[in-house]
Amino acid sequence: MSNGTKAVLNYGDGKSIEFPVMKGTVGPDVVDIRTLYGKTGMFTYDPGFLSTASCQSRITYIDGDKGELLYRGYPIEQLAAHCDFLETCYLLLKGELPTPAQKAAFVDTVTKHTMVNEQMQFFMRGFRRDAHPMAVLTGLVGAMSAFYHDALDINDPHDREISAMRLIAKMPTLVAMSYKYSLGQPYIYPKNDLSYTANFVRMMFGTPCEEYKINDTVVRALDRIFILHADHEQNASTSTVRLCGSSGTNPFAAVAAGVACLWGPAHGGANEACLNMLQQLQQQGGVSKLGEFVAKVKDPNSGARLMGFGHRVYKNYDPRAKLMRETCYEVLGELGLEDDPLFKLAMALEKVALEDDYFVKRKLYPNVDYYSGIVQKALGIPVAMFTGIFSLARTVGWIAQWQEMITDPEYKIGRPRQLFSGATSRNVMPIDKRK
Ligand code: SDX
Repeated sequence: MSNGTKAVLNYGDGKSIEFPVMKGTVGPDVVDIRTLYGKTGMFTYDPGFLSTASCQSRITYIDGDKGELLYRGYPIEQLAAHCDFLETCYLLLKGELPTPAQKAAFVDTVTKHTMVNEQMQFFMRGFRRDAHPMAVLTGLVGAMSAFYHDALDINDPHDREISAMRLIAKMPTLVAMSYKYSLGQPYIYPKNDLSYTANFVRMMFGTPCEEYKINDTVVRALDRIFILHADHEQNASTSTVRLCGSSGTNPFAAVAAGVACLWGPAHGGANEACLNMLQQLQQQGGVSKLGEFVAKVKDPNSGARLMGFGHRVYKNYDPRAKLMRETCYEVLGELGLEDDPLFKLAMALEKVALEDDYFVKRKLYPNVDYYSGIVQKALGIPVAMFTGIFSLARTVGWIAQWQEMITDPEYKIGRPRQLFSGATSRNVMPIDKRK
């Protein structure tokens, strides 16, 4: 889609070339440089893709300066207030919020796919009990492609639809299995008379020995956490799913690549790293040590980072962090944990950082991971499970973006180029002649 304006590149000895400028419905225009290499023999150079749009998308829009996040045009604040996670899944996948009848049918389909093949549990036995749940999950999600040969044709809309349902429905079961395995406890099967999130909570904390009493506060808070983590434009793990999927591989393999990428502490692993950072700060003296810690973070030689702070796109407060902080207040209040020392420490640390020129100058604000660990810990979720829960929630975003790519007429296999700065062509010296 070009709107007629052009961008002109002047290069070499007096040469110049024009490129069409494309305009979206909102957000920055893009310079369409697809013909650059063919016409000039030059590449663009953009490590980390700070100025690169990898695709056109209609799913999620972020305004980093305003701190705005829209799923299919709906502000995240409104979705968190008025919808549940499966409604949000329907919206991300189909582009519109469901009618009551559409929602009921969607919930029924997801509910009927929550069980995993009994063979899946035998993969678990290969792992040590203390394996990180994300290592287990990466393996389990990839292994799903070994079970659904009946629907792996990515060019068949029905196969794409059933794969999306299977992934969204089975992730809670797999995440709960990875937790139960770490405890040495039996797996809990899903129950079809429970909501998606209540089912997950029961599979995580229930045992065969007694009926599990669902805590509605926990379910409501987790469901909101799922909504806040569902999608986020072309972040690292979504870009991984798109690039992996662009080779034509099946969606289970592509989503397994997304799980692996999300694990990193610079990305989805930040919630676990942030809580560990706060707990370590607490042990070292808490609020009295904040000045010392912040000084260390500001020292470029320390390599220390304030986990849960900063973002490639948000140069203002991450709207999800605001909602997560509200959820902290609500959950800690309802659970009688108002005086949670970690929450108080996190808010004190946030205040110190937001008043410090180092953070202000670099526009570093709390991101979604800063408070999510505190909420999840209050809900009884073990720290090692935080990123697995992020994966559970982000699966719908990954699969919606994958579907959008597969059905995009402009879609091609992703194959970036490089600026080569290594050795140019040279001859091999036989080893007996090498000194
Ligand atoms: C997620 O992309 C997404 O949308 C991701 C996500 C999603 O929903 O998918 O939002 C989820 O991954 C959130 C981010 C979680 N990660 C963390 O909280 C880890 C801590 N934050 C960072 O490491 C960092 O802020 C990133 C990775 C999030 C963003 O890094 P950028 O955009 O590459 O920025 P940068 O590393 O170039 O930093 C710019 C400057 C540097 O200082 P100078 O070189 O200018 O002196 O800011 C500093 C950095 O040192 N900086 C930090 C900091 N983050 C950046 N300094 C201290 N603490 C931090 N957290």
